Amino acid sequence: PAPGWTVDADVVVVGSGVAGLTAALRCTAAGLRTVVVTKALLDAGSTRWAQGGIAAALGEGDSPEQHLDDTLVAGAGLCDTEAVRALVTEGPGAVRRLIETGAAFDVTADGGIALTREGGHHRRRIAHAGGDATGAEISRALVEAIRARGVRTIENALVLDLLKDADGRTAGVTLHVMGEGQHDGVGAVHAPAVVLATGGMGQVFSATTNPSVSTGDGVALALRAGAEISDLEFVQFHPTVLFLGAGAEGQQPLVSEAVRGEGAHLVDADGVRFMLGQHELAELAPRDIVAKAITRRMIEQGAEHMYLDARHFGAEMWENRFPTILAACRAHGIDPVTEPVPVAPAAHYASGGVRTDLRGRTTVPGLYACGEVACTGVHGANRLASNSLLEGLVFAERIAADLAAHGPHRDVAPAPEHRTESPDTEIWAEFGSADGPDAGPWAVTEPAAGNGAAVLTLLAPEARRDVQRIMTRGAGVLRSAASLAEAAAGLDALRRGAAEAGGRKAAEPGVDSWETTNLLCVARVLVAAARTRAETRGCHWREDHPDRDDAAWRRHLVVRLTPDRR
Ligand code: SIN
Repeated sequence: PAPGWTVDADVVVVGSGVAGLTAALRCTAAGLRTVVVTKALLDAGSTRWAQGGIAAALGEGDSPEQHLDDTLVAGAGLCDTEAVRALVTEGPGAVRRLIETGAAFDVTADGGIALTREGGHHRRRIAHAGGDATGAEISRALVEAIRARGVRTIENALVLDLLKDADGRTAGVTLHVMGEGQHDGVGAVHAPAVVLATGGMGQVFSATTNPSVSTGDGVALALRAGAEISDLEFVQFHPTVLFLGAGAEGQQPLVSEAVRGEGAHLVDADGVRFMLGQHELAELAPRDIVAKAITRRMIEQGAEHMYLDARHFGAEMWENRFPTILAACRAHGIDPVTEPVPVAPAAHYASGGVRTDLRGRTTVPGLYACGEVACTGVHGANRLASNSLLEGLVFAERIAADLAAHGPHRDVAPAPEHRTESPDTEIWAEFGSADGPDAGPWAVTEPAAGNGAAVLTLLAPEARRDVQRIMTRGAGVLRSAASLAEAAAGLDALRRGAAEAGGRKAAEPGVDSWETTNLLCVARVLVAAARTRAETRGCHWREDHPDRDDAAWRRHLVVRLTPDRR
């Protein structure tokens, strides 16, 4: 439909987590007319759920170089070293600027920033707030700053598609807004620069730590816009998510790695501490290693979960250091002070996403991405714990600096300066062409009809659970050629069903149907990438290819949908 209302801006930021709000604050400070659009309320995304904290070399004896080393090891050979260098060297300053913006971190007795440890870190370098409520504090401070500085915001605004001009440059976004007065209905923000900061896609699986809004909207939009997507097969499963029963679906309570950082033990059904001897860091090994060890032991013992034992913390430490987790456990009838906590892995973080250069530019001129939606190259095959809030901060600042230096208008360079890796580290898949890993049809979308007004066959909201179950069964922690083929067939059947239904009666446009359509779109590309990567690396675990294969696979899978498949 034609936009019923329009707003003009220099920059439109899509999303309101740490990355989006930081980008918006910095762009506003640079004098750019900035509008933030967000799908629900300003504080509804993943940021506010972050517990453990934000990693930066802030402690005595620590250095960006050591943080870089730990990040590269966790990334299992696929990090972009220059991107990681930018992250770790600019990280401490970015955290200090966040504190100046108003975020109050926990402090030590002598007034320094209190630091804890998490998986994969050889040093205490995780700053935290409210004990285990770091994201909530960051979100509060950023939302307050956005309001105090009068940044224009539109809430309840579901982003539909990217608008482009006749030269293929970004010209804004279309939105479907509900209940926001003058901006109700379908409209558009016209702007020559769009910053995608829409977060992750955890809802593609049945059980996840992500809130219900994490439906891969930014990656789906970028795919439809012809941007490059990379590393989508690397979905991180957090090792210790509170186990609420085998059939538990939707957002599940996280039990932060910081609990292990402060000395909690993982034990199996027999009470045996099974991480000892598996890795020099035992329970604090990188996240993929711990998630795999838990899954293996669950399979061996026929158990649905393992246990996290931190009874030795005592009541006072639980209450002061981990009040959020304590309350969540007690709300579900578990008292961590007196009993071990049942935990199992659940989907947590998309290490891949919309591919960017070091300035946050994607391959579509004027389209930027930062935060979980982006693939900046810092995470490789497995993100190091607590590097995500940091990445959101650092790369949002980089985008604002790029826009301030070059202006958001027509002098945005057409091509991003790309990665420091050599071209032979990339494998290209133009899905929709016969060269892709699967020559079948790849997107749920019909060809775009006119500028930005893509005519989609929207999926009925009820299909969301189907997507989640198919993905959990076939493309979860443990994958194989057979399980992935089954997932691909299941997703394809859903797509075909939608296309057939579309001929007769398409699903009503609305948040639910758009989200479900986006979930199917990203799930299909994720499965295609996972089928292609015939090795085990980082958080991509192939039962039928159990080893890491550097000769064949020390490369990235880069995906772009061909125009006929968008
Ligand atoms: C956690 O607190 O365990 C989550 C940290 C992260 O995902 O980086």
